[in-house]
Amino acid sequence: MKILVTGGLGYIGSHTAVVLLEKGYEVLLVDNLSNTRAEVLDGIAAISGKRPEWLNIDLADPAACRAALEGQHLDGIIHFAAYKAVGESVQEPLKYYQNNLGSLVNLLDYVSQHPSCGFIFSSSCTVYGDAEVFPITEESPIKPAESPYGNTKQIGEEILRETAAAKGLKTIALRYFNPIGAHPSSLIGELPLGVPQTLVPYITQSAAGLRGPLRVYGNDYPTPDGTPLRDYIHVMDLANAHRLALERILSGNSAVGMEIFNLGTGTGSSVLQVIQAFERVTHAKLNWSFAPRREGDQIATYADTTKAREVLGWVAEKSLDEAMRDAWAWQVALGSDSQKP
Ligand code: WQD
Repeated sequence: MKILVTGGLGYIGSHTAVVLLEKGYEVLLVDNLSNTRAEVLDGIAAISGKRPEWLNIDLADPAACRAALEGQHLDGIIHFAAYKAVGESVQEPLKYYQNNLGSLVNLLDYVSQHPSCGFIFSSSCTVYGDAEVFPITEESPIKPAESPYGNTKQIGEEILRETAAAKGLKTIALRYFNPIGAHPSSLIGELPLGVPQTLVPYITQSAAGLRGPLRVYGNDYPTPDGTPLRDYIHVMDLANAHRLALERILSGNSAVGMEIFNLGTGTGSSVLQVIQAFERVTHAKLNWSFAPRREGDQIATYADTTKAREVLGWVAEKSLDEAMRDAWAWQVALGSDSQKP
């Protein structure tokens, strides 16, 4: 079985590629290195013992996408490739719509002509906005997007739903909560280029002396310790969920149209709990201080994981401590290399 993994040299894409290779799938990677580095391929090869083919093309370019997929007999596509920086998307909305939606449309053009090819879309809990009822289920209301990035996930799901219905496609949208951690080998992990905007890579870079003290954005939220709650899920659990979703489609068990699954642990952890987990597993003291709230941050978001458990047979197995241990081991392996712009 041949599976195209777009964004396959990126964070979740590379970890999913490793899981697929280890399960015996033939993997074709597409990545234009807009937010990663080519060396990730060496890590994938070192872990899996196989060096998948990699095409460096811009999927948002219709001609390039068509040329790359022509003659490929794909059994499935897992589409990770997208820009994902919330803040940047506010500054550069057109860049996000053109890239994130353009690449999706071009890929669905191929799938529409090859309807036996399964399609998995990388979506996000961002589509729920500031939820009022917890835990968040797949039926929870979709709120107006709070950023162009979040809007590309909402519109992307609509494009997928409508195209799948019109063309009789079997597709799945996976709504991730907060992916963290790294492969236990420390050969691949999260590679935020520039100053990390998300919590865990900032913590590990700060602890490695590459960044200043962590600023904890707000301590007056209506949560147990005053800091916001998030559902932090180990990237290896996330990667395994993609394999199970793919196998649901390939086995013919998924419905025509678009199925949706939340991928989280089902537990909300606060910022202070993440810091405590980091200090517990590293026996180090993290340098941090409270700062004003960050614009647009939600009070809490964590998943109801019933559907993924009952339908995909998937449960997140790794703990917050394991994720922080793997994130730190990856940071140590990276050394000062991770400060590359
Ligand atoms: C988590 C918590 C911050 C940094 C992001 C993406 C979103 C989605 C999930 C893809 C919040 C606090 C953070 C820092 C802090 N990804 N924080 N100091 O905002 O939940 O969502 O990941 O779909 O698109 O935006 O993650 O890690 O930025 O923040 O206090 O230096 O950590 O306030 O409470 P977020 P995050």
